[in-house]
Amino acid sequence: MANINDTAIKNIGKVLNDPNRPMKERFRALFTLRNLGGEAAIQCISECFKDESVLLKHELAYCLGQMQDKRAIPILRSVLEDKDHDPIVRHEAGEALGAIGDPNLKELLEKYQNDPSIEVAETCQIALQRLEWVSTDQEENLSKSLYTSIDPAPPSKESDVDTLKATLMDESKPLFERYRAMFSLRNLGTTESINALGEGFKASSALFRHEVAFVFGQMQDERSVPFLTTTLEDTEEHEMVRHEAAEALGSIATDECTEVLKRYLKDPRRVVRESCEVALDMSEYENSPEFQYANTLLTVEG
Ligand SMILES: [Fe+2]
Ligand SMILES: [Fe+2]
Repeated sequence: MANINDTAIKNIGKVLNDPNRPMKERFRALFTLRNLGGEAAIQCISECFKDESVLLKHELAYCLGQMQDKRAIPILRSVLEDKDHDPIVRHEAGEALGAIGDPNLKELLEKYQNDPSIEVAETCQIALQRLEWVSTDQEENLSKSLYTSIDPAPPSKESDVDTLKATLMDESKPLFERYRAMFSLRNLGTTESINALGEGFKASSALFRHEVAFVFGQMQDERSVPFLTTTLEDTEEHEMVRHEAAEALGSIATDECTEVLKRYLKDPRRVVRESCEVALDMSEYENSPEFQYANTLLTVEG
């Protein structure tokens, strides 16, 4: 993807920012911009925070964090600080700032670590501990990750499933430590570790439960489908968790997943039904010979 000029980027930005386009197209545009990176891409993504879709806006923040480009700090900061944004969006902005990992962000994250929105507060607590970890004790011997994502916490050094599960479920431990156990269990990828992660849906923190669903989406392992299905089907569950379960089912993409997702395309919660729409598009991609999910460049140019 060399020599992409700003005009091409702006054209992709137009797809992203067009509220009349289907959500799945706008998502593909967003991921294309994330992969391209650079100032113009950050600009296009930033403009989209004025959109109405919580799902889309939280994904903008997620992508900006994954790009790990300090030029995205001002926009992420303003999103975190703006209480008119949904807590799901503000949470993702806080997490993205943690992913960028600039030590100068400490003060800002401290300010929101007791935010009235618990999702935002917990995210900032974890992000602060990640900053601390980045600056001081990046230990050796971490369990090997197959995943390229910048995680909110590093995996722990422990590799015993029972010990990891005990930490995962220990409500007296800081979330950062429990997240570390979660990412180690993900990296193990065994039936036992998947079942341990599934237990994580019983944790009291909705933020934590949404992260379990996210991790299952990364693993794309059929063995997690029963846990994810129960989560999406539970209409009492926090919408952030159900959204993440839907997207995970989309990336696992079996017929069973598709069937469940179709059932929730008309969910009363907007963030849930939009997630099902995007998830079904992802599963179509998983099941097709399409070269690349983030393919807006081809569509815009072609
Ligand atoms: Fe999130
Ligand atoms: Fe999400």
